Amino acid sequence: MKALEFVPRSFKWAPPGVPSRYVSAKVVSIVVLLSVTALILFTLVPRYSAFPSSLPLLNPEIHYEETFTLPVSAPNFSIPDVPALITALQRATAVASEGRDTTFSRKAKLQWHQEHPCRARAELQPLYNLRRIVEDAAPNAKWESVFKEYETLHRVCTQSVGGDLVDYFATRGNTTNCRFLVAGIAPGAGLGNKMLSMVSGLLYAILTQRVFLIAADTLVPGILCEPFEGSQWLFDPQWKVTPEYAPGRQQYWENKDEFYKEVDSALRGGEPVKSSIYGLVANDEWCQPGQRFFCSTEQSYYNLVPWVYINGCFYFLPKLFAIPAFRPVLEDLFPDKLALTHLLRSAFLPSDEVWRRIDQIHSLYLRNADRRVGIQVRYRDGEKEFNITHKLIIDRVVKCALENHILPAAGAKGVSDLNQTLASKPRYQTSVFIASLYPSLHDSLGETYIRNPPEMEDVSIIQVTRGKEQHFNDEEDKQALAEIISLSFADYLFVTPLSTFGGMAQGYGALLPWFIDNRPTSEGSCQRAQTVDVCYQLPQFIYNCPYEPDLDKQWVMSKVPYLKDCLPLDAKYGMQLITRN
Ligand SMILES: *[C@@H]1O[C@H](CO)[C@@H](O)[C@H](O)[C@H]1NC(C)=O
Ligand SMILES: *[C@@H]1O[C@H](CO)[C@@H](O)[C@H](O)[C@H]1NC(C)=O
Ligand SMILES: *[C@@H]1O[C@H](CO)[C@@H](O)[C@H](O)[C@H]1NC(C)=O
Ligand SMILES: *[C@@H]1O[C@H](CO)[C@@H](O)[C@H](O)[C@H]1NC(C)=O
Ligand SMILES: [Mg+2]
Repeated sequence: MKALEFVPRSFKWAPPGVPSRYVSAKVVSIVVLLSVTALILFTLVPRYSAFPSSLPLLNPEIHYEETFTLPVSAPNFSIPDVPALITALQRATAVASEGRDTTFSRKAKLQWHQEHPCRARAELQPLYNLRRIVEDAAPNAKWESVFKEYETLHRVCTQSVGGDLVDYFATRGNTTNCRFLVAGIAPGAGLGNKMLSMVSGLLYAILTQRVFLIAADTLVPGILCEPFEGSQWLFDPQWKVTPEYAPGRQQYWENKDEFYKEVDSALRGGEPVKSSIYGLVANDEWCQPGQRFFCSTEQSYYNLVPWVYINGCFYFLPKLFAIPAFRPVLEDLFPDKLALTHLLRSAFLPSDEVWRRIDQIHSLYLRNADRRVGIQVRYRDGEKEFNITHKLIIDRVVKCALENHILPAAGAKGVSDLNQTLASKPRYQTSVFIASLYPSLHDSLGETYIRNPPEMEDVSIIQVTRGKEQHFNDEEDKQALAEIISLSFADYLFVTPLSTFGGMAQGYGALLPWFIDNRPTSEGSCQRAQTVDVCYQLPQFIYNCPYEPDLDKQWVMSKVPYLKDCLPLDAKYGMQLITRN
C-alpha cells in the first residue's frame, strides 16, 4: 500500500499514460491488499447484528419488467449557468411535489433543528474567521442559494417517497419522479478517501438534480450532522440493497457496461431502446466513475436512470469540470474553483459528539494563539517507514518552517512572523497542532523549545492522539475527523504527500499547504501546494466519449486550462483544479 490510501477491490486496468513499470510494482501488492480487504470486512461485520447475508431478499417474487425508453438522440441537456441550475432544481421540486404545498413551516423547521442538533452549523465558520494570518475563502452567495434550493428538492423528494427509501428502491418505486444518487465506498477506504468521494458525488447530484444519499456501510453519516434541513441522507441502514453486501444484488443494480451497451444500441441502431435499468452502479473496478461517465452524451442518458450508485474511494470532483455539459455552470458557480471548501463546510459538518472534541482542542490550545501551525505526518508503511524516515521528516519540517518564517529558531531573539503588526505584541503565542500516529515530531519540537526557548515567543506543541496503527471503525473516524478539522484551523499547514487526511484539512481550511518532502533521496525539505484543491489520484487522463468527436481520445487536461497535473511530490499521476483565493 505504498502509493494509495485505500484498498481497491481489484486491479483491472491502469490509467492511460501510466508507465507499466509503475503498474507492475503495484500488482505485487494485490495479494496484500485483498487480504487486508478481507480483514477489514471481517472486523466491520460483527458490529452489525443484521448483516444482510442472513436477510431474505425483499421481493424475491417480483419480476422487474417495467421499462423506459432510451431515445435515439441524446436528450437535450445543458445547464449554462447558475440561474438555469436553480430553475432546474425548482422544476424538479415542482414535479416531485405534484402541486402539493411544500413550504417548510417555521414550526416544522424549529422542530427539525431540535431533533437534529448541529453546533458546527453555527460555530464552525466563526473559528475560521479568528485566523489572522491567512485569508479565508470568500463567501459564495451563488453556492449558498444553489444549496438552499437543493435542500428543498431533497426534503420534498424524501417526503414524497413517504415511507422507507429502501422499500421504495427495492420495489422499483416510480411514484415520485425523483432521481437518486447513492454514495457508497469501496471496502477498506479510509475516512479521507470516503469523504472525498462523497463530496464529488454530492456536487454531481446537485448538478443533475438527484437526491444525494449515503450508504450506511460507509459509517460516515454517523460522524456528521444531518445536512439537509427537514430531511435525512442515510440510505440502507440494514445493508439490504447495498451492492457490495446484498446477496442477489444483481436483482437491484445493473452495471454501467450494460447501460452503455443500451445507449450504443439506441445511438447506433437508430431505434429507441427499451431499458429496464432502474438502479445503476456507475463506478468501475478502480473505485471511481468509469471513463464514459465523463461525457456529456452519456450524462444525458444517465438522467433517465432513477437510481445511480457510486461505490468510490477517489476524489473525482475536479473531472466534473471536464464534462462539457457541466463546465459552464460549474465555472459560474465556483469562479475561484473552491468547490471542495464550500461543499465541505456546507454539507460535511461534524456531529455534535465530534464537535465537542474539536471545540475542546480549539479552546484549550488554539483559540488564544497568534499563529496556528498544523502538521500532519503520516508514515504510509507504518513502523517500517517510520524507523527509516522519521529523523529525516523532523529535520525537513523544521527546515521548512524556519525557511518560511513559520516557526522561530531555538533561542531566537526576535519574532519569526514577518508581519510586524502582529509581531509587536509583548509575547507572541504560536500553537503547533500535530496529527500523527507517532509521537516523535511532537517530542522533538517540544524538547527543542523547552531547552532553548525563543526570547519573545511562546511555542506550544500539541498532539492529542498517538496510535501507531490505522484502524477502520467508527471511533477512529470520529477522532480522525476531529483532528482533520483541528488541523484546518491552521494559518500554516504541513501535510504528507498523497494523504487524503491532510487533503481534507486543506480543503476545510481553504489552505495552500506545504508538502513535507518525504522522499529519502530528495534534497528539498518541502514544497508549497499550487492549489487548495485536493489531488484526484489515478484518474483516467483520456476522454473516452465515442459520441463527442472533438473530445474522444483527447487528453482531458488539454481541454480545461485550470485542470493541472498534481505536483510530482504529491502524486505522480493525478489532476486537480487550480484554485485562486
Ligand atoms: C435541443 O435544444 C436546442 C436548443 O435549445 C433546440 O434547438 C433543439 O430543438 C432541442 N432538441 C430537442 C430534441 O428537443
Ligand atoms: C499583518 O497583520 C495585520 C493584522 O491581522 C493585518 O491587518 C495586516 O494586513 C498584516 N500585514 C501583512 C503585511 O500581512
Ligand atoms: C409505474 O409503475 C407501474 C407498474 O408498477 C406502471 O404501470 C406505471 O406506468 C409506472 N409509472 C410511471 C410514471 O412510469
Ligand atoms: C522499529 O524500531 C524499533 C526500535 O528500534 C524496533 O523495536 C522495531 O522492531 C522496528 N520495527 C520495524 C518494523 O522495523
Ligand atoms: Mg491519511
